[in-house]
Amino acid sequence: MYRAIASRRDVRAQFVEDDVPQDVLLRVLEAAHHAPSVGLSQPWRFVVVRSAATRAAVHDAFLAANECAGAIYDDDRQSAYVKLRLEGIRTAPVNICVVCDESTSRGHGLGRQTMPETARYSTVCAVQNLWLAARVEGLGVGWVSIIDPAALRAIVGVPPAVTIVAYLCVGYVSTFESEPDLVRAGWETHVPLADVIDRERYGER
Ligand SMILES: Cc1cc2nc3c(=O)[nH]c(=O)nc-3n(C[C@H](O)[C@H](O)[C@H](O)COP(=O)(O)O)c2cc1C
Repeated sequence: MYRAIASRRDVRAQFVEDDVPQDVLLRVLEAAHHAPSVGLSQPWRFVVVRSAATRAAVHDAFLAANECAGAIYDDDRQSAYVKLRLEGIRTAPVNICVVCDESTSRGHGLGRQTMPETARYSTVCAVQNLWLAARVEGLGVGWVSIIDPAALRAIVGVPPAVTIVAYLCVGYVSTFESEPDLVRAGWETHVPLADVIDRERYGER
């Protein structure tokens, strides 16, 4: 488990064309479906996209969003941004749109009266299970958030009452890098663990 956690990567550029067999995909989705959820609501749903036409439409939506996203940076940061590879939508043979039905009656509202957002958090737990199980299967996963959710909603047919949580690119990879792409590109560094552990009260070391 610790090995899987440490060697999991967000994959964008290393996808290969090999198909992902249905039984392997189902194992990974089964792991996602075993995630903890508030009130045992299991509010998630996984829209598996294999169609090249749909992936091309999502890629177009990414390109539009990415142009705006890159525009906020000045000079050096902007030239670094445009060099980053930030998606594998068309190169990964499988895309999964993970959504959350926040209005589900499952779980009878347990835990959601005080913190309704926990339905979404539960769905993120499912994504993490999926990501780790995929790593064990030798499958890379890349999470793409640089897409206008309204555009994605229209392409994938997600109803207005359902929240889009994640758009994932999934496929076999040529290699799992040992460091995050953003570290290798000099975009960001790791925060040491000691910097995020407080004693008794927030901010107290
Ligand atoms: C909620 C979320 C959204 C993300 N969105 C993107 C994205 O749009 N494009 C991208 O290239 N990576 C995206 N990532 C991946 C992160 O950049 C990556 O997890 C981080 O750099 C650490 O790298 P690692 O996952 O390989 O350890 C996202 C990750 C998370 C958790």
